[in-house]
Amino acid sequence: MSLFIDTLKGKRSAETPIWLMRQAGRYLPEYRALREKNSMLQMVQTPELACEVTLQPLRRFPLDAGIIFADILTPLIGMGVNLEFKKGEGPVIDNPIRTVADVTRLRVPKPEENVQYTLDAIKLVVKELNGKTPLIGFSGAPFTLSSYLIEGQSPGDSDLRHTKGLMVSNPEAWHELQEKLVTLCVEYLVAQVDAGCESLQIFDSWLGYVGPREYDQFVQPYLVKIIEQVKARVNVPVVFFATSVSSIFPRLGKLPADAFGVDWRISLPDAAKLIGRPVPLQGNLDPQLLAASWEYVERSARAILEEAATLPAHIFNLGHGVLQYTPVENVQRLIEFVKGHRR
Ligand code: CP3
Repeated sequence: MSLFIDTLKGKRSAETPIWLMRQAGRYLPEYRALREKNSMLQMVQTPELACEVTLQPLRRFPLDAGIIFADILTPLIGMGVNLEFKKGEGPVIDNPIRTVADVTRLRVPKPEENVQYTLDAIKLVVKELNGKTPLIGFSGAPFTLSSYLIEGQSPGDSDLRHTKGLMVSNPEAWHELQEKLVTLCVEYLVAQVDAGCESLQIFDSWLGYVGPREYDQFVQPYLVKIIEQVKARVNVPVVFFATSVSSIFPRLGKLPADAFGVDWRISLPDAAKLIGRPVPLQGNLDPQLLAASWEYVERSARAILEEAATLPAHIFNLGHGVLQYTPVENVQRLIEFVKGHRR
């Protein structure tokens, strides 16, 4: 057992566990050095490289969990889409899903045929960590994966125009797509646990664009399915994370997740009230502040830890991923600060 897993299970202890979303990434010089010689996809698809990148932040900092180096979009490649990570643009899919026929054409490959490289990377990492630090597996949620599949580029650039268009004008295609993604995600998450991950996180980064009625109708049933099906098959805590979703927290609180990630737009106690049941919360320092000024980070981290004292359990994290221009020193000091705190 570990502080991180115990805390996710709701156990209170004097220490607050900490890990950071995107803790492996471009703010680390050793990541950039490897990235100079390899594309993002090469790094994800070569188990030795993915293992190395996963371990990089764990060698530097006393983090309480690792997260396997992959991307929420890599499992989509095996469905038959052309995914590329373009410099300055982020992920691009040049054959986006726009019609019923496009949805019907999508394959739902087994993880061993699709993402064996990630499963192999997990095994390498788990062997290296040797029980010292738990590893987190993850997947995107169907709504967010759909938004990339349908927009073909950063969903925010088009305000999810095509995604919402397909959802409401072609609900059958939408529901068929969600069912395919549920199967893909459940099998992928279970396979990551079978390979050695001790907890799972589901990322629904673009969910904040959806209103409550559409959440109920087009999103919620599939989130419930994924979490229920995963929990019926593997016994690990499942964290649900989305951004800009405070207004639907009362709804999200009803999901059968074990814990929730919270972004920086709401305080932890307010989030806890809206979520409405005593679950552990993970968060919620603004990553932009971490990049800005250590003095302000220290004040903010102290405030977050004080606010979290009212929660049943708290895992310190950012409200979203570490930004690439974040000073490594600020990350180091934040982790030391949280590790030195007693609640
Ligand atoms: O957290 C970790 O350290 C584990 C690895 C991880 C990555 N992406 C690596 C990555 C995880 C958990 C993700 C999740 C992810 N990917 C999400 C959900 C969380 C979030 O940030 O909202 C989303 C929406 C994506 C899609 C994605 N991948 C985008 C938008 C981009 C481009 C923007 C950017 O930050 O570069 C990526 C690329 C990506 N995924 C990088 C990394 C380290 C940068 C790749 C590079 O070196 O160029």
